[in-house]
Amino acid sequence: MSSFLEDVITGLKAPQKSLSSKYFYDEKGSRIFQEIMNLEEYYLPKCELEILENSSGNILDEIPFKELDIIELGAGDGSKTVIFLEEAVKSGKHINYIPLDISGEILEVNRDLVKARIPGLDVQVLAGDYLKTIFQLKERKQARLLLFMGSNIGNFPGESAIEFIRFINDFLSPGDFFLMGVDLKKNPHVIRAAYNDSKGVTKKFNINLLERINRELEGDFDLDSFEHYGVYNPLTGSALSFLVSLKTQKVKIGENEITFDQYETIHTEISQKYSLKDLDKIASKTGFEWDKHFTDEKGYYSLSLFRK
Ligand code: AVJ
Repeated sequence: MSSFLEDVITGLKAPQKSLSSKYFYDEKGSRIFQEIMNLEEYYLPKCELEILENSSGNILDEIPFKELDIIELGAGDGSKTVIFLEEAVKSGKHINYIPLDISGEILEVNRDLVKARIPGLDVQVLAGDYLKTIFQLKERKQARLLLFMGSNIGNFPGESAIEFIRFINDFLSPGDFFLMGVDLKKNPHVIRAAYNDSKGVTKKFNINLLERINRELEGDFDLDSFEHYGVYNPLTGSALSFLVSLKTQKVKIGENEITFDQYETIHTEISQKYSLKDLDKIASKTGFEWDKHFTDEKGYYSLSLFRK
């Protein structure tokens, strides 16, 4: 049994049904996510870009090393990171850029893009699950800056975000740096709108999860009988996404049958928001010496730098 099937069945047989957000990103899902990133309401990429454009130099000023490995987890196409890399090279540092991603294809796009903009840069791509491939970099002697951009930390529920940052701290050596893109707590209306866009692209993104089950696991979800529901809870700082069954129904997935009551929900995603104070607490809890925040003009988003 594939792990996708196993995870889907386990998730849909639980009292509160859920599906893991890591399964959003098949080919079609990745295309829809690109569409989300271009939405007016989805402010996150614009904010991250603004900070990279305005503050890359200031971030680099905090890093004393002349020779530096810049290791990026879940690097994608590198189109934003290249701004930071250009600034790093300009500052006179010798940089080895090492992007890690599950997709070898996207890493080729990344390398081509970065090499076109910074011809002399050392780029060494590493394809596979970065939780495993990162250990291939353990023996390197250079100082490190580890990048984890795009507010991907938001997808880690509850304590698992802290566990992940501890894992990163364990990997680093004293003196190394960690730079993380984080979406901040803000006016709840702004957050709510980012996950309930007026064009229905976020709905399409969520429904694609059911389509993917139909395509890959011989499912028979009736897509029209599910609705997307996105909500932000200021008590916890969590934006949560759900799929709502609009009627009582049975769904087949291969040999398995799942029953839905009317209005029963499938929890599909958490996008956790943090305050700068939350981040300071996390830094000290996870073994970092200090942290410093670089935000956009509106204070919507932070690139937070941690030093071990
Ligand atoms: C890629 C995890 C940052 O949670 O904001 C966008 C994914 N989901 N719209 C996020 C997402 C719905 C996104 N991250």
